[in-house]
Amino acid sequence: MSNPEPFSGFKRQPVSAALMFGREWLRAPLLVGAVAPSGAALARAMTAGMSAADGPVIELGPGTGVFTGALLNRGIAADQIAAIEASQRFAAALATSHTGVTVIAADATRVSHLTPFGPAGAATIICGLPLLSMPPAKVLRILAGSFVALRPGGVFRLFTYGSRCPVSGAMRDRLGLVVRRTAFVALNLPPASVYSLEREEPAG
Ligand SMILES: C[S@@+](CC[C@H](N)C(=O)[O-])C[C@H]1O[C@@H](n2cnc3c(N)ncnc32)[C@H](O)[C@@H]1O
Repeated sequence: MSNPEPFSGFKRQPVSAALMFGREWLRAPLLVGAVAPSGAALARAMTAGMSAADGPVIELGPGTGVFTGALLNRGIAADQIAAIEASQRFAAALATSHTGVTVIAADATRVSHLTPFGPAGAATIICGLPLLSMPPAKVLRILAGSFVALRPGGVFRLFTYGSRCPVSGAMRDRLGLVVRRTAFVALNLPPASVYSLEREEPAG
């Protein structure tokens, strides 16, 4: 059963996390893709309905760990979360602030080789990556690798500031994915939409 909404344990990120995020954005704006961490409302929408049964979880692009904290608040155990982060600084800080979570400093394109959950795979992927600022070939590699790392029936959740899903129709057709917009979060800067992607059920 999922936790009731709104869950009580969610804390605002400390000012130090926001400052670190801003510094990383100044160093590498395209990699970080946002000037500030996501807000609590978006973190709730990204993890909506989740409970311990939705692990293990792979998180792509955790940054300062807003979604990581939300997953823990939903009842996912720390050892059921693996976070893949390209920035060495974010990765090192996350390993310190979220002990027990497996933090892997690497590019998300390597997700299918990195999964610590063995051949059984992950049940859910939470994607915080700036997909809109990536070349389509890179988005395709990340998506294809993610659906190798996910178990059958696994779900890939992402958010975007754009007006449509950042995974194009052509890419979804190629990978056999169906998309659903699950939330629009006006109370985020900037406002964001949440989508979930799943493998199409085979016909018959
Ligand atoms: C828009 S920020 C989101 C951070 C956090 N999830 C949040 O919502 O506040 C994007 C994050 O993805 C990371 N990132 C960008 N490209 C990446 C890649 N190819 N592989 C892994 N992490 C990446 C950035 O370093 C940054 O932490």
